Amino acid sequence: MTDPLDHWARLAGSAVLLDGFHALKHALRFGAEVPVAVTADRAATLALAAELAPDVREALAALLTEVPAQTYASLVPRPHPTAVAALAVRPSRAANLRELARVPRTAPVVVLDEPRNLGNAGAVIRLAAGFGATGVITTGTLDPWHPTVVRGGAGLHFATAVERLTLPELPEGPLYALDPEGEDIRGLKLPDDAILAFGSERTGLSAGLRARADHLLRLPMRPQVSSYNLATSVAMTLYHWSAL
Ligand SMILES: C[S@@+](CC[C@H](N)C(=O)[O-])C[C@H]1O[C@@H](n2cnc3c(N)ncnc32)[C@H](O)[C@@H]1O
Repeated sequence: MTDPLDHWARLAGSAVLLDGFHALKHALRFGAEVPVAVTADRAATLALAAELAPDVREALAALLTEVPAQTYASLVPRPHPTAVAALAVRPSRAANLRELARVPRTAPVVVLDEPRNLGNAGAVIRLAAGFGATGVITTGTLDPWHPTVVRGGAGLHFATAVERLTLPELPEGPLYALDPEGEDIRGLKLPDDAILAFGSERTGLSAGLRARADHLLRLPMRPQVSSYNLATSVAMTLYHWSAL
């Protein structure tokens, strides 16, 4: 049998770090390939699974290796309170691109136009997974598979298609860009094949994205408030899509 720490060392450069029990639980639920998982307390982790996620308890029991707490801590940037970590195989870009391009689309694609904040990107991926969105595309320099984004996404990168693309590579579909100067979203039904685009935290929508947009939409906001947080805006828009 392969030593789990050797296995970890071999995969660490290319695999996706699942940091904490919930990230591992979600990844398993949504079909991630997880070659190696460690815990500093196997009994406690399996008890947590029995309580919170009995559907993955058996898979965890087969996968988890107990390691000393110090060894666990040496494998992660910041120890998680659940003292669980795993490595997952990143889904292929080709498969994600196929998923994003598939028509007819039954749920929107979310585009983050040049986002800056890794935590926001993770929160948006978690939202997209929760609402069953087709995927999340980022433009610009932020890597949506950065470990901090994966941590913020609670392992839900495996529940939706996550890729970085350029504007000309965006999938087909009516492009609705969210902007405080747009038309009130409340009068509008968002179609299932919508591309929902959101601007960066600092500068909003880029000129290129604005030029491509079919509609500019605003979320209701009282005068004198300049804008909402990016992830909060995505939450309201996906909720609006789901509710009508
Ligand atoms: C923090 S805001 C960007 C603020 C930026 N200073 C600006 O000039 O737009 C990030 C993104 O959230 C979305 N957003 C925030 N508040 C919004 C609102 N009231 N209506 C529509 N979109 C909004 C937009 O897509 C915006 O680009």
